[in-house]
Amino acid sequence: MLKVLGLTVLLSFSTVAIAAPVADTHTEMAGCESCHQDGAPSSDMAFENEACITCHGSLTELEGEVHNQHEGIITCSDCHVVHEEGSANDTCANCH
Ligand code: HEC
Ligand code: HEC
Ligand code: HEC
Ligand code: HEC
Repeated sequence: MLKVLGLTVLLSFSTVAIAAPVADTHTEMAGCESCHQDGAPSSDMAFENEACITCHGSLTELEGEVHNQHEGIITCSDCHVVHEEGSANDTCANCH
């Protein structure tokens, strides 16, 4: 019985450890409109990437060397695939 309970607890912890997609956490906070103008995706995602900077700051202002190293080179959504689960660390190999 205890063993079964232990397993259940372990499983629920590992579920929590999988980060929810960034778009989902933000939609919960402030809706699709928090990133998309009137809630609708733009064709070039410039509005969306500007929205990230408005709330979080630019790549030079954000904490972490990896942010500073890419200022003026790429945008937030190049690394943060916001509608998918997973870490921005998974995207490095796309380019490097
Ligand atoms: C955290 C900001 C953010 C939030 C909140 C967000 N999105 Fe997005 N969305 C993006 C970004 C950035 C992209 C482009 C990159 C990508 O496709 O992952 C995108 C892409 C999309 C696309 C694909 C567009 C295309 O042309 O490929 C659709 C459709 C979309 N979002 C709809 C929604 C809807 C509906 C909601 C609310 C339920 C939502 N988004 C919430 C940032 C966000
Ligand atoms: C309306 C303001 C706002 C916009 C726009 C916004 N964010 Fe956020 N974001 C927040 C807040 C508030 C949090 C939660 C507190 C924190 O971690 O700073 C957050 C959290 C995060 C996190 C931590 C993990 C998570 O999902 O909670 C990441 C990564 C992130 N944002 C990336 C982005 C990216 C990339 C964009 C643009 C596509 C974006 N944000 C647009 C306000 C915003
Ligand atoms: C070169 C890739 C890259 C780019 C570009 C990038 N990030 Fe990140 N970001 C990361 C990595 C890697 C982490 C740490 C791992 C993680 O949380 O996914 C991170 C972490 C974050 C966090 C903290 C997440 C947390 O859990 O507290 C926020 C907020 C964030 N980034 C916002 C942004 C915003 C806003 C932009 C655009 C201005 C941006 N990032 C551009 C790679 C990137
Ligand atoms: C969309 C493409 C793209 C992604 C994704 C990306 N980078 Fe980069 N990165 C670049 C470009 C372009 C440069 C500048 C040219 C160069 O130095 O290769 C750069 C520069 C760097 C540098 C500066 C040192 C150097 O090589 O000149 C480091 C370190 C780095 N990236 C690490 C990372 C890490 C870690 C991740 C994942 C968290 C990541 N990058 C994701 C495109 C990308």
